[in-house]
Amino acid sequence: MSKLPYCILFVDDEEVIRRRMTKTLETAGYHALSASNWTTGRQILETQQVHVLLLDLNLRGFSGLEVLRWMKEQRPSVPVIMYTGVGTIEAAVLAVKLGAYDFLEKSVDIEKLLVTVRNAAEKWELTEGLSNAARAQFGLIGDSASMKKLWQDLVKIAPTDEHVLITGESGTGKDIVARAIHGLSRRRSSNFVRVTCTVVTESLGTSELFGYKKGSHAKADRDEPGRFKMAEGGTLLLDEIGDMPLPLQAKLLTVLQTGEIEPVGGRVTEKVDVRVLAATNRDLKQRISDGSFREDLLYRLETFRIHVPPLRERKEDVRALLEFFLTNSIRRYNLSTITVEPGGVEAMMSYPWPGNVRELERLIMRLCILAEDSIIKRGDVERELGLQTDETSPPPSGYSTAKKSFETEYFNRLLQVHANNISAASRAAGLHYTTVHAKLKELGLIGNLQDTA
Ligand SMILES: Nc1ncnc2c1ncn2[C@@H]1O[C@H](COP(=O)(O)OP(=O)(O)OP(=O)(O)O)[C@@H](O)[C@H]1O
Ligand SMILES: [Mg+2]
Repeated sequence: MSKLPYCILFVDDEEVIRRRMTKTLETAGYHALSASNWTTGRQILETQQVHVLLLDLNLRGFSGLEVLRWMKEQRPSVPVIMYTGVGTIEAAVLAVKLGAYDFLEKSVDIEKLLVTVRNAAEKWELTEGLSNAARAQFGLIGDSASMKKLWQDLVKIAPTDEHVLITGESGTGKDIVARAIHGLSRRRSSNFVRVTCTVVTESLGTSELFGYKKGSHAKADRDEPGRFKMAEGGTLLLDEIGDMPLPLQAKLLTVLQTGEIEPVGGRVTEKVDVRVLAATNRDLKQRISDGSFREDLLYRLETFRIHVPPLRERKEDVRALLEFFLTNSIRRYNLSTITVEPGGVEAMMSYPWPGNVRELERLIMRLCILAEDSIIKRGDVERELGLQTDETSPPPSGYSTAKKSFETEYFNRLLQVHANNISAASRAAGLHYTTVHAKLKELGLIGNLQDTA
């Protein structure tokens, strides 16, 4: 919960009321800010963290309802309490319909006013406040509207103990989201266990997930708990669930239905108390239609779904991420301050980031190490990203064509540099083997390549 007092902004053109309200709110322990008109009110909102807005419906020169509309669009997380001297039922109904938190008359007694303000402030805390704290705690950077919305959903979903399916391209931050769900749930003091479903064959996967008993196979000289047991009381993340072999999917479904596991070689089933999260960068609907994923398992797993958008759809996060990774790299490699030239930032802003945040993170690490005179220039960024700067070439016709030609160029070069070894190429690109493999296939670049996982 927040340590500083909540900041309440009230906008009213009557000075007497402003003075009275300041006194009431300050006495109740709030930090009160006031404005006599909406222009000033808006300036305050743009420069200060306001938790609740108290707004006069009949502001001189402004319609309170217009202001309310603006707030819903621009500051959706700040609850707005409307009030008026002459309350009409219609105005109240309309204001609440437009999303006002509550509607009061100016003659309202102080107690009722303060209760309303407190409830509204707590509402802010539950959405934005908790989300800010969580974001800082879990190292999730990004203030774009889509990331804010993601965190607002996340703080609601985390405490429910339900299964969550986390989708999104490789490198978008699904792992962080999963850890945050665990960290914001009642299970936070127990283990968070992660298992990748890509590499497991059915039999290995069964032992890995559910454990085995001594003597169940030649090398089993003792009982071995599986990942489910290790996550007892906590959370299990099944990463890359889309790649799980079909027979193992059937076993997993049974466990999710019964809450019991059956270790290999065991005679009895064992109860487990584990919250299962699943992550994938695959289109599971597509996997279902080509017969490689069970539809009933998908329905089980996606009680809630959180989609982490690709970085190219939230370019406004690039700047903040850049600063974050810059600071991290400077600390990690014990460097002096490093600056990025505006041209360098521009190059990053216009790049489509096929490897998403992970690609940006690795780029910054490389650039920090290689930077000359502690300055990162546009040329450095373009070179590291493998971008061509041929000014004479015609502009690309459309985004998808440009993306495809970039990807073809990029992956061709990547393969060239890594002697056609997909594993090495994947590591260098900061992408998963499966992602690179699928991309190469899609781009028609897969030939007689070394297919080593
Ligand atoms: N919003 C973010 N703020 C800060 N760091 C981030 C953010 N999103 C991702 N990262 C960093 O980018 C890297 C990749 O993130 P993460 O492993 O969570 O991606 P992922 O979606 O699980 O990818 P994959 O599908 O390849 O497993 C990590 O080092 C992570 O810390
Ligand atoms: Mg991951």
